[in-house]
Amino acid sequence: MKSVHSLRPRTNADLPVVASWVPNAEALYAFAGPWMTWPFLPEELDDLHRRPGATAWMLDTSDGEPVGHVQLTPVDDALRIGRLIVAPSVRGEGRGRRLLRLALDHAGARGVSRVQLGVLASNTPARRLYESLGFVADPETLDAPMMLMARDI
Ligand SMILES: CC(C)(COP(=O)(O)OP(=O)(O)OC[C@H]1O[C@@H](n2cnc3c(N)ncnc32)[C@H](O)[C@@H]1OP(=O)(O)O)[C@@H](O)C(=O)NCCC(=O)NCCS
Repeated sequence: MKSVHSLRPRTNADLPVVASWVPNAEALYAFAGPWMTWPFLPEELDDLHRRPGATAWMLDTSDGEPVGHVQLTPVDDALRIGRLIVAPSVRGEGRGRRLLRLALDHAGARGVSRVQLGVLASNTPARRLYESLGFVADPETLDAPMMLMARDI
């Protein structure tokens, strides 16, 4: 496995790369929930201006190949992690965990004390990843299609 270093800010050149990791409507639903509809156009990712304070980040290999993406949005006194995705060709190799840990470090560096996210109850890989890093489901959403999860930094 190629090694990974830190997160870098997303650029416009990354938009089609990230979009290429979402091959169909089902994958789009897992990635973005019900807020985006298929077909998924790269420019639809470019909506940070609609989310005050939001930032978007890429994970590269040490060779500079983009392999992961995450968006961080301030929500009240917490930071919301969203649009987490790893390139399909390198899933299951620890990139998602690395990406999430770096996002948590970033949140901590911003002085945020709590992080939250939404995940489809049916998205087992993502739920397992979040649970393994200490995210706990809001009991009120346990039976909902979209679960809210959170943890302290
Ligand atoms: C969710 C996702 C980001 C995980 O990335 P990844 O690089 O494959 O994950 P990792 O290799 O870092 O695995 C970390 C943990 O996630 C869980 N996990 C990953 N893939 C899994 C799978 N296919 N089945 C069950 N659990 C899985 C495991 O707990 C794993 O830990 P382990 O290897 O010790 O068992 C990736 O599957 C993805 O991009 N999915 C499509 C987009 C998406 O659903 N995003 C989440 C939106 S809420």
